[in-house]
Amino acid sequence: TGLPDQEETLLLDASGADRAGQLLAEGRLVVIPTETVYGLGASAVDPGAVRAVFAAKERPLDNPLIVHFGDSSDAVAVVPSPLGLTRALLQAFAPGPLTVIVPAPSWAVPEVRCGLPTVALRVPAHTLARQVISRAGVPVAAPSANRSGRPSPTTREMAWEEMAGRVAALVDGGCCTVGIESTVVDATSDREVVILRPGTISRQEIARRLGCPVRLQARGDRRSPGTRYRHYTPRIPVVLAAAADLEQAREEAGELFPCDSSQGQEGVRVLSVETFGSYEAYAEGVYRAFWEAERRNCFLILAEDPPRGAAEGLADRLHRAARGVYRPGGLSGQIRENS
Ligand code: TXA
Ligand code: MG
Repeated sequence: TGLPDQEETLLLDASGADRAGQLLAEGRLVVIPTETVYGLGASAVDPGAVRAVFAAKERPLDNPLIVHFGDSSDAVAVVPSPLGLTRALLQAFAPGPLTVIVPAPSWAVPEVRCGLPTVALRVPAHTLARQVISRAGVPVAAPSANRSGRPSPTTREMAWEEMAGRVAALVDGGCCTVGIESTVVDATSDREVVILRPGTISRQEIARRLGCPVRLQARGDRRSPGTRYRHYTPRIPVVLAAAADLEQAREEAGELFPCDSSQGQEGVRVLSVETFGSYEAYAEGVYRAFWEAERRNCFLILAEDPPRGAAEGLADRLHRAARGVYRPGGLSGQIRENS
C-alpha cells in the first residue's frame, strides 16, 4: 500500500506519558523525544506496528530499526552471557547515546531487524522517553522520526512537521540535547568494538572506558545497512569548508547570492564551531540549523568541516548532507553538481 491514511495526531506532554505508553502497547505509532533525536516509536513485538513505521517514514525495507528499553537492566538481560564486551558497553554507556548490536532474541520480530540474525538495542537517557517506554510494557522500536532521507528532528516543531497526520500521538520533550543520532557499535566478536555509525560517544572514549581495541567500520563494509543510504539531506545545498577557507567561501557565496539583509533576507546560512561555541553545541544544533535555513529559503548552507579525527559523528552527518568540500573559485560549480 502507499502512504498511511491521514489521522488526527494528539500532542502530549509529560502528563501524557501513560496515554502514550498505552497507545504503543495497542500497536499505534507514537513520536517520542530522546536525548539524541526524536524517534518514531512502535511496539517491537508487534509486526503490524513495525510495518506501519516503515510506511510512515517511507523507509527502505532493508534498513532495520533500533529497539529501545526504559531500563538498562532490561537491555543487559538481552545480551547472551558470552558477550562480555557488549555487556560492559551497556554498563559504561547506558542509559545514553549508544546502540549495541546483539544476536536477536526470540521476541524481536523479523520485521524489526529486516530478517537479520541480529538486533540493535538502546536505552535513551531521557526521563520522559524512559517513562513512556516503561508504561508501554514492551520494547519500543524507534527510528529517527523523519521521513526517509530527511534530517532527523531535534525539536517538537521539526518532528511535528515530519510526522503529524501519520502517527497517533507526539510526545513533546523539548529540544534534544545531543542533536545527532546514537553511536552504533558491534562488539559481537567479543574481541573488539566496531563502530558502525559514529556519534558523540567517540572511539577514544570507548577505548578508554573499556580498554579494548575500537575501530571505525571500513568504508565499503556494509554491516550497518543504514549507512548505505545517502542520508540527512536538507532541501537546499550544503557545502563544507575547512575552518581556514570559511571566510573566503562566505565571500564567494555572497557574490553568487547577493541578497538584501535589510529586508530580513538570509541568502547563506553559515555554521561554524565559533558561532556554536563548541563541537557539542554544533552537533546539538546542526539539524535544527538545516531546518531553519530551509524555512528561511536560504540558497546555501555553508558548514565548517571539522578537522580529521575531531567530532567524528558530526563530521559524518555533515559529509552525508553535503555536495562536497569547498574549492576556492569553484563554489558555483559545486552547487550545480548533482543538483
Ligand atoms: O539516536 C538514535 O539512534 C535514534 C533515536 C531515536 O534513538 N534512532 C535512530 O534510528 O537513529 P535510525 O533507524 O534512524 O538508525 C538506526 C541505525 C541504522 O543505521 C541501521 O542500519 C542500524 O541502526 N541498525 C539497526 N539494526 C541493525 C543491525 N541489526 N545491524 C546493523 N545495523 C543496524
Ligand atoms: Mg534515521
